[in-house]
Order: sequence, then C-alpha cells, then structure tokens
Amino acid sequence: MSTDFNISNQINYIPNEARYTNMKYRRTGKSGLLLPEISIGLWHNFGFENNFENATDILKTAFDHGITHFDLANNYGPPYGSAESTFGSIFKHDFKPFRDELIISTKAGWDMWPGPYGNFGSRKYLIASLDQSLQRMGLEYVDIFYHHRPDNETPLEETMGALDHIVRQGKALYVGISQYSAEETIKATKILKSLGTPCLIHQPRYNMMDRWVENGLLDTLENEGVGAIAFSPLKQGVLTNKYLNGFPKDSRAVKDGRYLKTDQINEEVLFKVKKLNDIASSRDQSLAQMAIAWLLKDERISSVLVGASSSGQLLDSIKAINNKEFSKETLSKIEQILKT
Ligand SMILES: NC(=O)c1ccc[n+]([C@@H]2O[C@H](COP(=O)([O-])OP(=O)(O)OC[C@H]3O[C@@H](n4cnc5c(N)ncnc54)[C@H](OP(=O)(O)O)[C@@H]3O)[C@@H](O)[C@H]2O)c1
Repeated sequence: MSTDFNISNQINYIPNEARYTNMKYRRTGKSGLLLPEISIGLWHNFGFENNFENATDILKTAFDHGITHFDLANNYGPPYGSAESTFGSIFKHDFKPFRDELIISTKAGWDMWPGPYGNFGSRKYLIASLDQSLQRMGLEYVDIFYHHRPDNETPLEETMGALDHIVRQGKALYVGISQYSAEETIKATKILKSLGTPCLIHQPRYNMMDRWVENGLLDTLENEGVGAIAFSPLKQGVLTNKYLNGFPKDSRAVKDGRYLKTDQINEEVLFKVKKLNDIASSRDQSLAQMAIAWLLKDERISSVLVGASSSGQLLDSIKAINNKEFSKETLSKIEQILKT
C-alpha cells in the first residue's frame, strides 16, 4: 500500500496490477528461487545503437505480464556494457521501487576490456567485471552472477572461488554457469558445494534445432539439483515465421549479422521451419509459441530465456504458456521433421 503511494509520487510507470495472474513460476533446481516460465534477455536491442523507448517498452511489457527475470551480461550492447547502462537508466526511472520483485542477472567470461584481465575466468576479471556491471546498472547487487563460459586455462577452483567470494561480498545472491559441458558442470558444482555456495543455475543454448543439452547435461543438472534456463529458444528468430517469406529488413539476420547470418537460414532450414510452422498452426499457436512450449514441456527447464525486438513479439511469445501440452503423435511428427 505504502509502496503504491510512493510509486505514484516518484515515477511514471505503474505496473499492471494483474501481473502475477497468468505467469507460472518454477523452482530453480533444488533452490528456494522461483523463476517465471519465460524470462527476457537483453543481449540484442538494448545497446546504445537501439531505440531507448522501444527498450523501455519491452521491459515494461515483460514485467506487466509477470516476467520478473531480466538477463544481462557485461558485454551486451553494442558497444560492450551499453545494455547494462540502458538497463540502469530504465531501472532508475521505472523499476527502482520494484527491486524486490525482480531477478536481475549478469555475467562475465567473454572479452570485455583490453589487456590480460578483461576476459576468461580469473578471479581478477570476474570480481572487477561485476563491480563495473553494478555501477552501469546502478544496483547494489545482482540476483544471479554467471561465469559466462568455461575457461580451461584457469583453475576451476579459482573461478568458482571468485563466484563464492562475490556472494560473500553481498554483490550477488546466487551464482550460475553458462555453456559448461556436463563434465565441467559436475566439477564446478562440486567445488561450489564444498565452498558453501551452491550452483543455482546453468544457462545453455537449447532449442528444437540445437539439442546438445540432451546428451547428458540436463540429467546432470537434475542429479545435482541445479536449475536450467534455456537461451536462444527461438534460434535467434529462425524458429518463428519471420523468415518464411524472405529476409525482413528489420530482422536480426539482416540488421546485425554478427551472430546470425543470412546464409545460416538456407533452404534446408526453411523447409523444416515451414513444416514446423504448419504443426504450430494446427495447435492454434505461432511457431514462436510452439518452440517455447516445446522447451517448457520438460519440467527440468526452470525458465525459457527469450529475446524480443518489440513488445509485440514478446506478447506473442508469452502466450506460449497457455498451451504446453504435446501429444506423443505431435512430438514424433516434430522429431521426423527435425531429422529430415
Ligand atoms: N549465456 C550465453 O552465452 C547466451 C548467449 C546468447 C543469448 N543469451 C541470453 O539469451 C537471451 C535470448 O537470446 P536470443 O535473443 O538469441 O533469443 P531468441 O528468443 O532465440 O531470439 C530472439 C529474436 O527472435 C525474434 N523474435 C522473438 N520473438 C518473436 C516472435 N514472437 N515472433 C517472431 N520473431 C520473434 C526477434 O528477432 P528480430 O530481432 O529479427 O526481430 C528476437 O530478437 C539473450 O538476450 C541473452 O540474455 C545467453
């Protein structure tokens, strides 16, 4: 009540009162933390080159629909750091009163600044990077801090020790790892457990067309009691209807091309996408919705981490949670298409 009073006096944004009505929340591994079935990532569309109003609109739309988890990394932009700065401005203006309703994550592990201390997995890099991230975002702490990718050159004890230290400093509440193999995950979780800071979550790439996590990682996470948040669930937009009639000018493949190239979306891929799109239509879903629902059918997936270039796309994706049931027949049809 008093919070609402403060909100109307201090900020412009009053979130939808019904924001928790439809979203479902899942337990993250064996932790106490619940994550929304759909989370929003700021990898693309939140850099200084992007439209600030659009970025704000996406985050407000997310929160208005119960998406309580915003995922960032030190090098999201471009330029590096700018997604965190954009988020910091939006947070300051619109989300500050709702800090305790939000799970904000960031990461370090890829190249960030020049010289030997701005990359990989050293204690020096991780601790300095999180300090910079907190400054850019105007936060005292993040909810989850990740090591963004494995680094075979740094002793795992040092990297995990840095994560433990960061939690003890009060700069992160939980820690996670991203892109670690099943074997690396077992080693990392063991070290973290011995330090008294359990690994909360693993963030792997996982979508209908990229299935590496099914070869041991998901089983490992279940055994270790670690949650899983699937990134690029739409294969950066390929698993939607957007490329079925050519390459839209405003699409990631055309506009950006750093991580998704037009030649990756070839006839063979589009043949499968078209067939998957037909199945989605028969379920009264968009393909984006079906691709997200397909991931959520596995209870080991704590959350599906989508991206969006507009609030309209996000609104479409959110509807995935309304139909997560798949008959055996539909699942086998999907497998047949993916195998062709
Ligand atoms: N841990 C890691 O190493 C790592 C790596 C990559 C990503 N991530 C995280 O995962 C998040 C999501 O990754 P992602 O952006 O690749 O996810 P994605 O959900 O697979 O792709 C998002 C893109 O798909 C298109 N799209 C989204 N919803 C749509 C809809 N309903 N209909 C049609 N098109 C739609 C948009 O592309 P257009 O721009 O073409 O409109 C959007 O930018 C990132 O923001 C980041 O937080 C983590």
